[in-house]
Amino acid sequence: MRIAVLGTGYVGLSTGVCLSEVGHHVICIDVDQQKINRLRQGISPIYEPGLESLLLKNTAAGKLHFTTSHQEGLEKAEIIIIAVGTPQSNDGAADLSYLVQAAKDVSAHLKPDAIVVIKSTVPVGTNDYVRSIIANHTKKPFKMVSNPEFLRQGSAIKDTMKADRIIIGSEDNEAALKIQEMYRPLNVPVLMTNVKSAEMIKYASNAFLATKISFINEIANLCEAVGANIIDVANGMGKDKRIGEAFLQAGIGYGGSCFPKDVKALLHTAGQYGVDFSLLKETISINESQRQLLVKKALERFQQLKGKKFAMLGLSFKPDTDDMREAPSIVISRLLHQAGAEVIAYDPVATENAKKVIGNTIQYAESVEEAIKNADALLLVTEWEEFKKLDLAEVTKQMKQPIIFDGRNSLAEDKIRACSKIEYYPVGKPSI
Ligand code: UGA
Repeated sequence: MRIAVLGTGYVGLSTGVCLSEVGHHVICIDVDQQKINRLRQGISPIYEPGLESLLLKNTAAGKLHFTTSHQEGLEKAEIIIIAVGTPQSNDGAADLSYLVQAAKDVSAHLKPDAIVVIKSTVPVGTNDYVRSIIANHTKKPFKMVSNPEFLRQGSAIKDTMKADRIIIGSEDNEAALKIQEMYRPLNVPVLMTNVKSAEMIKYASNAFLATKISFINEIANLCEAVGANIIDVANGMGKDKRIGEAFLQAGIGYGGSCFPKDVKALLHTAGQYGVDFSLLKETISINESQRQLLVKKALERFQQLKGKKFAMLGLSFKPDTDDMREAPSIVISRLLHQAGAEVIAYDPVATENAKKVIGNTIQYAESVEEAIKNADALLLVTEWEEFKKLDLAEVTKQMKQPIIFDGRNSLAEDKIRACSKIEYYPVGKPSI
């Protein structure tokens, strides 16, 4: 099939690359000329395991193309996948301006009877809105399908190729079947729904997972208070198939470009329809307070933070990505800076992005060794594999004081115990 993908962010690029990998002819469109130039050379704008090799392979095979021209990209496409960003606007609602522009671009160059697929995360009712924009700008016939995306950053390719489910929402059976056909080579279970349910499935899924994280974080805080161990508690809970083991890792809160924005957008939608979804308000407020946890623990330990030197390991919102959006490291840096502490941070890939967000209120190291030198404490903020493998005896030897605050419970307890000098403060379980 001839497919056009509008927008080469995480979702658009992963989708385009994977659909070309399974045999379709894909052209990705983006307004950013520099990005398109680099993509044509096989250079990915994002750090995503496995993406670049598929990019190179399918570009070389002539199955994957990139362009800034909407005309070139759209005029032959039988399926147009819109995957532009829907960032958060000031009132918490999803900002649909990129989507509206995409709808206008589509209407200008649409091939008659093309299927327009909305993959961007959009509030309930948006597919109908986009349909009306396109219909107002062209007389050509077209069909609409809602097809939300569930991939995670850091495992985008794996999640796309081996998804748990594909949701196809349409009031047009023929269009829905064609999209099902497009995905057939992936061999993933498909669920057909109406458009509004498909839109809601995306938000409900993200809001549920975010709530699961806030719930386990509150349980972790309670575990600390009563002397229980969150690892055992989460394990015991997760063994119940109705609860499930995933997303029960307590820590310093969820971040990224999706959960924070989508929970707020769903809350905003609920408000618009007069529904008081107070559970989501708590999910958000627990997450905000959880991001401050390591600083609170440091304050309890040191009484005051002025002049203290903190080595911060990890900047990105989670491992295997250079994405800094809504990363807990931003809040932690700000609080420590305000308290007069010195922070020297290291991240395997996110440092350049972090500099743009956090700026020079903290220092940036090029290695763990540089970050920990003479530090009063180490803050483990993102659970990169590299940090789990650290030689803790050596690490603490380089520090001024052997104190570790582990915001992700990612260091093995037996390794901690093997170094008798370490003072270790995890989340939701007893300190060592
Ligand atoms: C999330 C969803 O998992 C995807 O299904 C969805 O497609 C995507 O949002 C999106 O809407 O585009 P992502 O934001 O890439 O994916 O990352 P996750 O792996 O879900 O992690 C989100 C945050 O939750 C991270 O900050 C992570 O550290 C945190 N988390 C995750 C926890 O604190 N505990 C857990 O047990 C799991």
